Amino acid sequence: MSNDRIDSILQEERQFPPPSAFAQLARIRSASELAALRERAAADHTGFWAELARKELSWHTPFQTILDDSAAPRYQWFKEGTLNVSYNCLDRQLAERGDKTAIIFEGEPGDTRHITYAELHRDVCRFANALKAQGVAKGDRVVIYMPMIPEAVIAMQACARIGAIHSVVFGGFSAESLKDRIEDAGAKLLITADGGHRGGKIIELKAAADKALNHGCASIEKVIVYKRSGHGVPMQTGRDVWWSDTIADQAAQCEPVWVESEHPLFLLYTSGSTGKPKGIQHSSAGYLLGAVVTLQWVFDIRDDDVFWCTADVGWVTGHSYVAYGPLACGATMVIYEGSPAVPDTGRFWKVCQDHRVTIFYTAPTAIRALMKHGDAIPARYDLSTLRLLGSVGEPINPEAWMWYHRVIGRERCPIVDTWWQTETGAHMIAPVPGAVPTKPGSCTLPLPGIAADVVDEQGNSITTANQGGYLVIKKPWPFMLRTIWGDHERYIKTYWGKFGGQYYLAGDSARRDQDGYFWIMGRIDDVLNVSGHRLGTMEVESALVAHPRVAEAAVVGRPDDVKGETIFAYVVLRGERPPGGIDHALTEELRLWVAEQIGAIAKPDDIRYADNLPKTRSGKIMRRLLRSIAAGVAITQDTSTLENEAILLQLQGKQ
Ligand code: PRX
Repeated sequence: MSNDRIDSILQEERQFPPPSAFAQLARIRSASELAALRERAAADHTGFWAELARKELSWHTPFQTILDDSAAPRYQWFKEGTLNVSYNCLDRQLAERGDKTAIIFEGEPGDTRHITYAELHRDVCRFANALKAQGVAKGDRVVIYMPMIPEAVIAMQACARIGAIHSVVFGGFSAESLKDRIEDAGAKLLITADGGHRGGKIIELKAAADKALNHGCASIEKVIVYKRSGHGVPMQTGRDVWWSDTIADQAAQCEPVWVESEHPLFLLYTSGSTGKPKGIQHSSAGYLLGAVVTLQWVFDIRDDDVFWCTADVGWVTGHSYVAYGPLACGATMVIYEGSPAVPDTGRFWKVCQDHRVTIFYTAPTAIRALMKHGDAIPARYDLSTLRLLGSVGEPINPEAWMWYHRVIGRERCPIVDTWWQTETGAHMIAPVPGAVPTKPGSCTLPLPGIAADVVDEQGNSITTANQGGYLVIKKPWPFMLRTIWGDHERYIKTYWGKFGGQYYLAGDSARRDQDGYFWIMGRIDDVLNVSGHRLGTMEVESALVAHPRVAEAAVVGRPDDVKGETIFAYVVLRGERPPGGIDHALTEELRLWVAEQIGAIAKPDDIRYADNLPKTRSGKIMRRLLRSIAAGVAITQDTSTLENEAILLQLQGKQ
């Protein structure tokens, strides 16, 4: 986080009270109603959550123990209870909402489909039966590598229905990343598609899957392939089966498998500061409760809403606010397959208009990218159905917030800036829109039952307004991650190590202002936030050094107007540094190499070649120095320990 970004936020004094037209109809319509909820939670933390769990979830067997913390930080919520997540999302809607539209799908080429709850239930049941027929049983891991189409949700729901644990891998990740995740999860089955449409091109998912499987993935027995692009892909006899063939003879009913509250619903891999991605493991009951209550509190979801979260199911946002939460609330949601810029940058607004979207949830990077094209494009569309806007993934800068408010929300819609993480499962710090005044750039206040705080190095609460510190959560909450798949030690060390097991460490720095509002300042670890997606610097560095010509690499983020951060790599080659530090062909080769290893999202935007990397006496790379150089700001670090001052010029691209 650079200092100038902190300053610009500090100057932000605008406040937007809940619009009265909105608040009048909201579920929580006043500060006092919200305060009452908060007080209940503060008086009896576990009792508060237990009451919600009983009210909002349909149980097969009721739970007895609310929270078992005897093996903390392995927390277990709602023990002895059994339920089924897919039952909670689908079966319980059938009586009242069977004919209601669950999913409005729009493909990038413009094809649309409406799927009712009854149809979705049938499709999920048939596919769940198909999975069973392919040998998948409770506890087996299934990797899903799909385009953003309803079948991605159907696949996830079908896994949940039979107690299989899914792990969705974002379709933008490469074969190599897919392979690593399949192997770490020990997945038995892979669900993919021939290809998906994105950015006017076909994303070759099956080809990437084949590449992954040809280089490992010994645990995979079967691959189910959905035909989306129809462009013809090779099928391996005995291993690959078409989705349509797997469901052909399957019944439209499938008895849900009742699982324990703590049964893992899914793993989702996310980047950490060191080493390989972490398989974040979520539970069934606690996780679903988080998705449901936050849709109620933060999105104020109602039966007549058309909810659109633009996130891909490859990210946690697409789990909680596409695949599970909206369905568990009986909502109608939009799923859009493609890019916001196809055929032009009015696409999001056209989708909002055509499908009469009422709640729209996207990332600051998308808002900034669309903002660049001016006000005239959104002005062409009828956005009058919108009543609430949301933001997630990174801090939203006040300028983008104001544009979103003025040009998209037409000054009528509250904006909910939601802070949370893959690990937290659902929103943690976010405005309750009928009750909390918003401030551009702040995610406002913790939700009821969420004990968020900002603490200093010793773990003491910081009471001075605007003084930065570590963002922590001081009490367990039902939708928290349970562990890191296959590496409980890493879970303990990463999230609970810093404050002696007492507090959950989010990995973000934050400050609270004079009103107690939270302002997220950035990551405290070596994690990059590129277009709202987390990438570990180590991952990109490992990818670079895997190239035969690279001896050493250091990667930092450079602040960027649209993406939040772009990737800046410093590389030491084996052998000679190119003359003047310039070798365009090699730079392009390395960029493509990283895209192959991780995915296009991880491609470095800049690469600089140096004879050495700047290191401290103890051999640690001076990342802060590299960050300053990447950002093009004055160097304030002590560089006297550098063996060779000329390296500084090389790193700056001046020699
Ligand atoms: O740094 C915070 C940032 O994104 C991180 C979590 O990334 P991920 O697990 O990929 O999940 C993203 C979607 C929930 C956080 O540690 N972040 C997320 N939302 C916000 C945010 N930073 C500031 N404001 C937000 N609203």
